[in-house]
Amino acid sequence: MVEVKLLSGALGAEVTGINLKDSSNENCKKINDLLLEHKVLFFRNQNITSEEHINLANFFGPLERHVYVKGRDKYPEIVRIIKGPNEKHQWGETWHTDVSYNVRPTKVIILRSIKIPPVGGDTMFSNMEVAYDTLDEKIKEKIKNKKAIHSSLGAAAFVEKYKEMEGNGNLDEYSNQHPIIRTHPETGKKILYVNSMYTKKILDMDQNESEDILKKIFLHQERLDFTCRFKWTENAVAIWDNRSTQHQGLTDFFPGRGLGHERIMDRIAIEGDQPI
Ligand SMILES: [Fe+2]
Repeated sequence: MVEVKLLSGALGAEVTGINLKDSSNENCKKINDLLLEHKVLFFRNQNITSEEHINLANFFGPLERHVYVKGRDKYPEIVRIIKGPNEKHQWGETWHTDVSYNVRPTKVIILRSIKIPPVGGDTMFSNMEVAYDTLDEKIKEKIKNKKAIHSSLGAAAFVEKYKEMEGNGNLDEYSNQHPIIRTHPETGKKILYVNSMYTKKILDMDQNESEDILKKIFLHQERLDFTCRFKWTENAVAIWDNRSTQHQGLTDFFPGRGLGHERIMDRIAIEGDQPI
């Protein structure tokens, strides 16, 4: 029997009674329905193989190769995210939407835990539909029909800062523009689609005003009542809708607390649509 336990009032559900080894259309449709409803799903004790991880991801669409990070040798579509035992930092450590600087940013991510520290490194998620609904009406009016520029930070931000992450040799930087308010292609809901990691400027707006509005929006997006938090255990899987959420991996690896432990995750990303 499928059981769904909500993680917060804003988004996120921990699901039991679904086996992720089963990538049949029927099972995947069930997962997608839950995903559209809760935006991020967590499953524990799912000892899936890399092949099963890939099979599951294939349901959602074409798999994406990360622009800067080298995939695993045998499974190039899987990026292994490793935080070394004494590293303070881990990948994806401030609020963001994955690769929003791409023309077609990631649709869905399936992240599987391999090795988890006893404390630290929880993942936070935030609901960008609620962020849109609750945004100040004057700001809504100013950003209506406007686009913003999203820029990648180059390979250094993805590889050099993180000792265990290996680049794929690409050093180019990318910029693309997307609507600030995008519409979810499956649910039709409006989403506040800027993020403090990659969004640089509102187009057709004076620089000072753009900075001022983006600063206000980023602050609004940080509201804790839009979030949920997942404490990982080994062999857990998170599946999230990267179109309607933001996330961050908390870097609370402080000496005497979370430092001195390795954290390993396997990530597969599914390519999305061009935001409209
Ligand atoms: Fe991320």
